[in-house]
Amino acid sequence: MTNKPVGIISAIPEEIKYLLDGQAEEVIVGNITFYRGKIEGEQAVFVETGIGKVNAAIVSTLLVSHFDCRALMFSGVAGGLDPKLNVGDVVIGERLVQHDYGKIQEEALQTFQPGAFPLPGVDSTHGFNMSEELKARSHKLLDEVILESLPNNETPSHHFGAIVTGDAFINCEVTRVRLHKDFKAMAVEMEGAAIVQVAEQMNRPWVVVRCLSDLAGSESHMDFDTFLAAASINAARVTRKLVHLFG
Ligand code: ADE
Repeated sequence: MTNKPVGIISAIPEEIKYLLDGQAEEVIVGNITFYRGKIEGEQAVFVETGIGKVNAAIVSTLLVSHFDCRALMFSGVAGGLDPKLNVGDVVIGERLVQHDYGKIQEEALQTFQPGAFPLPGVDSTHGFNMSEELKARSHKLLDEVILESLPNNETPSHHFGAIVTGDAFINCEVTRVRLHKDFKAMAVEMEGAAIVQVAEQMNRPWVVVRCLSDLAGSESHMDFDTFLAAASINAARVTRKLVHLFG
């Protein structure tokens, strides 16, 4: 059993509120406040990234290089893309894709793997995949997870699927449909695939947990405010089970 902490990342205060158990020690690095503490008996370093891929990459790098975290986890909310899912359902990212990195040609964006030159002949296979071993163990750990009911979703459930990441909040039905079609993704958010890119680069295992706060369409800005708290609680319930993956 290692004493190295797990890095627990959220973007905004509401998302991280339900994760830290007991007291924490505050550590400031580069004007970012990190909290050393515990979750479900595991040593952890908690941090709020702020929004977007660059913020996410900064804190992820510090969690590994400064705090020597053994794994990186994200817990928070997302916009739903898959019409079969509803606000309150939880998506665990089995594939993370940066949907806004690539080449624009004839008005269309062709996405590439982050860091690859977006040129003809370069491999454009993109996305980071959750390891099969972690996935299998996650299924088991989540057998007993109980999710909070929401007014329009009395029996929320958890799903493994693709999550796309980009630097824009999606408040547009046409874009929601396009992202679902192009990436067969279940959810969209603004940090996950950047965290995962850093984790892969630094040889650390990772898990991204997102509960749907909205459905990314024209009402998403209002639903986000209404369901942020309940969705953050459901994401935290799943994260609390999966934090034991890295023992
Ligand atoms: N996080 C929560 N809802 C989102 C949305 N609609 N777009 C991007 N990120 C989100």
